[in-house]
Amino acid sequence: MTTQHIQLTEHGRLKHFLSIEGLSKELLTEILDTSESYADMSGKQIKKVPLLRGKTIINLFFENSTRTRTTFELAAARLSADVITMNIATSSTAKGESLLDTIRNLEAMHVDMFIVRHALSGAAYFIAEHAAPHISVINAGDGQHAHPTQAMLDMFTIRQYKKRFEGLKVAIVGDILHSRVARSQIQALNTLGVEEVRVIAPKTLLPNQVRQMGVIDFHDMEEGLSGVDVIIMLRLQKERMNSAFLPSESEYFRCFGLTEAKLKHAKPDVMVMHPGPINRGVEIASTVADGPHSVILQQVSNGVAVRMAIMSMIISSSGGGA
Ligand code: CP
Repeated sequence: MTTQHIQLTEHGRLKHFLSIEGLSKELLTEILDTSESYADMSGKQIKKVPLLRGKTIINLFFENSTRTRTTFELAAARLSADVITMNIATSSTAKGESLLDTIRNLEAMHVDMFIVRHALSGAAYFIAEHAAPHISVINAGDGQHAHPTQAMLDMFTIRQYKKRFEGLKVAIVGDILHSRVARSQIQALNTLGVEEVRVIAPKTLLPNQVRQMGVIDFHDMEEGLSGVDVIIMLRLQKERMNSAFLPSESEYFRCFGLTEAKLKHAKPDVMVMHPGPINRGVEIASTVADGPHSVILQQVSNGVAVRMAIMSMIISSSGGGA
């Protein structure tokens, strides 16, 4: 699936934000730089700017979410947009209305932007392709395909602590096979120029031809974590597993769970990240999740600023600021 022809304007600006794939280092860096000013705003008493006043944004979440949905809502509100989160469970989707009919009806309410999460890979792309030309779409996670705003807030958090991407070794640990987050992170890390992206997982949780994604694969934590600057832990995405990929969760934790003992193989100033939701005692020990290396809650805070930046860049590209 190539998203490039659809997600950029003819001037190379963001029309939609569907995938990291194919976006330039300059554009990703611009997102990070723009996010800086919104992150500074989070500490202020008045956290609002009028940039999206008069714009209507609909959060369309067909799959569960805590962090992404809430931070998008907050980001839109802080940019002064009118924001509505659809409750899909109580919407007419439950009565058999098709995705396209739902979109057509929402379009009739003069919407400017859809934020879409869907269990099907390609759903956000499909909506972007079929929505009215003035509408922009942001992918808030589609199936196993992409979660580009999560990847950008993770890049922002890495740059915040490490001040650079060059020379960094980053290990992504766990269920790479089912992870849209890992796919987007790998694309962003490689585009931004880290030294090495490693994936550490049992063979059953790695895609075929994983090296073609621009990573080095490991199946042993001691080896894979050796000398890394950043560790990103992933949840076992059981909702996307259609057969048994592991002997048991306790065996998985013993081999691949991040504990204080395993952390010692990384650099002394290693950052521990996790997109959430975390499963304590499955992929990460509580002592590590809550420990001094963890930046997991900082990632959540940064999600607001990064999503504000992406929304504001999209609206600016359409010449639509307030
Ligand atoms: N990281 C992430 O996408 O979390 P939610 O599923 O809670 O949005």
